Amino acid sequence: MCGIVGYIGKKNSKCLLMEGLKRLEYRGYDSSGIAMLNDGHIICCKAVGKISNLESKLQNADFDSNIGIAHTRWATHGEPNEVNAHPHTDSKNQVAVVHNGIIENYAELKKDLQKKGCVFKSATDSEVLAHLIAMFIDEGCGLEEAVRRTMEQIEGTYGMAVICVKYPNKMVAARNGSPLIVGLGDDEFIVASDASAVVEHTRQIIYLNDHELITLNSQDYIIKTIQDIHVHKSVDNIDWDLGKIEKAGYPHFMLKEIFEQPESIHNAMRGRFDDEECTAHLGGLQKVKDRLRKTKRIIISACGTSWHSALIGEYLFEDLAQIPTEVEYASEFRYRNPIIYEDDTVLLITQSGETADTLAALREAKRKGALTLAICNVVGSTIARESDAGVYLHAGPEIGVASTKAFTSQLTVLSLAALMLGRMHNMSPVQGERIITALRNLPFQIEQIFKADKIIKEIAERFTYAQNFLYLGRGYNFPAALEGALKLKEISYIHAEGYPAAEMKHGPIALINESMPVVFIATQDAIYDKVISNIEEVKARKGYVIAIATEGDEKISQKADKVIYIPDTLPFLVPILSVIPLQLLAYYIAILKGCNVDQPRNLAKSVTVE
Ligand code: AGP
Repeated sequence: MCGIVGYIGKKNSKCLLMEGLKRLEYRGYDSSGIAMLNDGHIICCKAVGKISNLESKLQNADFDSNIGIAHTRWATHGEPNEVNAHPHTDSKNQVAVVHNGIIENYAELKKDLQKKGCVFKSATDSEVLAHLIAMFIDEGCGLEEAVRRTMEQIEGTYGMAVICVKYPNKMVAARNGSPLIVGLGDDEFIVASDASAVVEHTRQIIYLNDHELITLNSQDYIIKTIQDIHVHKSVDNIDWDLGKIEKAGYPHFMLKEIFEQPESIHNAMRGRFDDEECTAHLGGLQKVKDRLRKTKRIIISACGTSWHSALIGEYLFEDLAQIPTEVEYASEFRYRNPIIYEDDTVLLITQSGETADTLAALREAKRKGALTLAICNVVGSTIARESDAGVYLHAGPEIGVASTKAFTSQLTVLSLAALMLGRMHNMSPVQGERIITALRNLPFQIEQIFKADKIIKEIAERFTYAQNFLYLGRGYNFPAALEGALKLKEISYIHAEGYPAAEMKHGPIALINESMPVVFIATQDAIYDKVISNIEEVKARKGYVIAIATEGDEKISQKADKVIYIPDTLPFLVPILSVIPLQLLAYYIAILKGCNVDQPRNLAKSVTVE
């Protein structure tokens, strides 16, 4: 998710564009840039890192202009460096573009353009836009028609803004799948990814729809569809304040990120299914596929929530690919002189890609000659760069300290990897097809779970001031229970423990009494009856049972005090669904306790120290 902003009007726009970028920094912050039309040239300035770095570079720049575009990046293709930062220009520096989204067919477009003599500077997908638009202009199109023809060529998502030397009083913006709005001022227009970059200049906005493009000059605008049909739009009035806009109307980033999960899981799967071969295609692992095929053992190392993903990864790789797999806390792995063989694969799971213990585990594994892979959310992060290969989550920035969408995206990517490895070994095409169908259904199923919001809030109200919680599950649901407990303790500061349900009789059952809420993940699977027995053991001791259960299961409602139903899916995909109510339960309890949900005490989003 990147942030784009554009200005055309009567004022010099450099300051307004930079202020707009700062408002959009929460959308992505690994590099940024600005391009302006000035005396018949495009002047571009870019910087790696925070927007303040770009500001420093611009301090001595004497150029300014009444038409410009700017961009703050969350890298998806290409390292976060200056060359890959937006805006991107064509070979002759006639066209400049800022883009938010993913162009899925950029590789073939790039190859065709290079055959036509286009010289590419960056490793990004977005750069193809500048070359395509310039090519159509060279063929005699106007700027608007060149953008429309480019839109026809693209598969994927975009929110883009374009300026061109040949049309110094024009800007064209277009969208498909990525948000884009236009702020209407007095003889000026501001194009932006969301209203946070616009609201302090005007509250009059137009929302573009998918496959629409708008052509602006400082007095007027025209909106058309990709089919070149005129569109008339109503003007809306923003009544949100800035804080709410950055959170897209949610009160906290954590809640926004919980509700983003249908989209983030879709993005984790986007373009990664091979329906013909009934397998998954993970581009980042292609170059090590042969070593992977021969690997005798997988060791997964991580911290915190990512360690919970690792536990599910262990079950997945053994269950679907029959590859012996072990899981290690990175902080333990790095110091205990682990035995690692050259045909081992060490997989690091990390949202931030900067966790110190996980980085140390990676370096220890490399020292011992293992193949090192990373599943990571931040493109170009240290762990992503230092591992031999890897897979990005494409979940977009996760701002809330408590990990939510990154966790479910990690599980999605692990499922894709297990499917790919399984199909390299003994998994049948039929089983592969079943898994693909179940994965594709997840975003819709998560939307269904959100309907349980009311009952989850009721449970949160009842247990706002509980002192302890137990979370219990078996098989794939045991790591999900651990994750539910971690969510609660890290944002509400209530002591919570996760356990394998069967382990209760080996100690924790001594804790059970009428003031002890026990959350069971009790979905219908091969060991469901065992979990029911565990529930009965708790009830016999007056414990209060909250069950996460499979839709249609009536038996559980006679056993548990409260039931939250989730749709049915394959056992190894259940954690992706069962964790959603647990995330919401933790969130609502924390809110009722008045806790700082996005920045809980003592915690950091990325633990870059030991
Ligand atoms: C989870 O909600 C916490 N924020 C924390 O446990 C986190 O998962 C852990 O610090 C690992 O971070 P990473 O995934 O960025 O490596």
